[in-house]
Amino acid sequence: MSTVEPESTSRNDSAPTPIDPMQRRVNSARSIALMSDTQSLAPAQLEARRLIHREYAESGMTDAFREIRTRLLELSDGQNFTTLVVPMSAGSGGSFVARNLALSFAFDPAKTSLLVDCDLRHPCQDKAFGIDTGHHGLIDYLEDPSLGIEPILHHTGVPRLRVIPAGKPAEVQEEYLSSFRMRAVIDSLRCRYPDRYLFLDGPPIKGAPDARILSDLADFVVVVVGYGRDSAAAVNQAVAGFDPAKLAGLVFNELP
Ligand SMILES: Nc1ncnc2c1ncn2[C@@H]1O[C@H](COP(=O)(O)OP(=O)(O)O)[C@@H](O)[C@H]1O
Ligand SMILES: [Mg+2]
Repeated sequence: MSTVEPESTSRNDSAPTPIDPMQRRVNSARSIALMSDTQSLAPAQLEARRLIHREYAESGMTDAFREIRTRLLELSDGQNFTTLVVPMSAGSGGSFVARNLALSFAFDPAKTSLLVDCDLRHPCQDKAFGIDTGHHGLIDYLEDPSLGIEPILHHTGVPRLRVIPAGKPAEVQEEYLSSFRMRAVIDSLRCRYPDRYLFLDGPPIKGAPDARILSDLADFVVVVVGYGRDSAAAVNQAVAGFDPAKLAGLVFNELP
């Protein structure tokens, strides 16, 4: 599957920014209706990709993500927001949680979800969704913004969920993550549509400053701990590096 959301044409970009909340809801619903979702993945295809869906057989999985979604929505002030999801260490399930959490927001027909693969050293969301990115991802845009947002927004096969893959391999990752362009693109992606929720799939906390750098761009931080992998002391020390006001919580992920 290699599809690209026509950002400039699939939604009503020319509509003026509404002030009246009722009007905003109407426009928001219309913008979602205008989004074109090409093919939708069937439940068996979703399960093969370890993506949740409403009738997921594995007990509790979908409900667990719904609970995290509810917690984030409770913390928010009613506006859309950006959530950074980071694992304690590689392989803890950070990317797994990030994509399924993003998907749980897309369950709601009044919301859209955008997952941005910000683990520039070890990106995985393109493979997880089976997307042929055609070298159109975050790095490509940061290097050359004239590319535009449209080519880097990819369909996932899940209605209302888009992904921005990491793009071509980059050498000096921290430089990109802390750049002015990075902040500008994340802010504009969130502000563009009030129904859009952003999820940043970040690199592990251990071993590099990238996770903390990325947290500056997010409203909330969710830390994923591989169940039984890290001591309580190590987790406490790791989360101490984040702004306590942004720390939404820990997810203990039982790896298969
Ligand atoms: N709870 C889970 N159930 C099923 N598979 C999982 C679960 N958590 C992680 N995985 C799988 O384990 C592997 C590593 O997870 P990943 O999310 O890439 O880790 P991280 O981003 O923390 O490095 C992936 O193949 C992922 O799909
Ligand atoms: Mg990851």
